[in-house]
Amino acid sequence: MLSFRELAVTDIAECQGIWAELGSHYDHPIGGSWNNEKLADEIRDHQGVGIFSGEGQLEAFCLYRLLPPDRREIMLLVTRPRAHRTGAMRALMRSFIDELRPDESVWLEVHAGNVPAISLYESFGFQLCGERPDYYADGGKALLYEYKPLQ
Ligand SMILES: CC(C)(COP(=O)(O)OP(=O)(O)OC[C@H]1O[C@@H](n2cnc3c(N)ncnc32)[C@H](O)[C@@H]1OP(=O)(O)O)[C@@H](O)C(=O)NCCC(=O)NCCS
Repeated sequence: MLSFRELAVTDIAECQGIWAELGSHYDHPIGGSWNNEKLADEIRDHQGVGIFSGEGQLEAFCLYRLLPPDRREIMLLVTRPRAHRTGAMRALMRSFIDELRPDESVWLEVHAGNVPAISLYESFGFQLCGERPDYYADGGKALLYEYKPLQ
């Protein structure tokens, strides 16, 4: 049985562990300059939600920021590699979106080469609303997406 809850500082080490595992298991560019320190700062200073297995193990997490009065920005989504393509992030995103107020929108940027992430966002109805050429360190383009509950 999976459960959801907001992340706490006590989850930082497990998020870092999943991030470390991901390095050798993901063939697509993720974008951004994430590392252990940035992950810890983001969890301490902003918001995050996780999906946990029945045994209490973190399977996937979403880091996001509240941008008052009516926006959220998704900063990072990660699923533990052994749980990839099992529906963990779809369940987490469903829960995240179901909690939005009708007037709230969600923004995010994603590396144009990150095919799995783009497919996920578009399947939820995120709309492409901009591009930033040469945005990432590898020269990759950033795609900007927005989700509005009432669109
Ligand atoms: C992107 C990511 C979070 C998806 O998580 P996941 O738990 O494996 O995703 P799910 O199993 O819930 O799949 C949801 C949808 O994502 C898309 N998707 C996931 N993996 C995919 C793949 N390998 N190829 C194409 N689409 C994929 C599909 O639309 C999928 O729906 P479907 O299975 O019904 O076709 C995961 O691949 C990951 O951790 N990637 C590394 C970090 C990252 O790139 N984060 C996003 C940028 S911040």
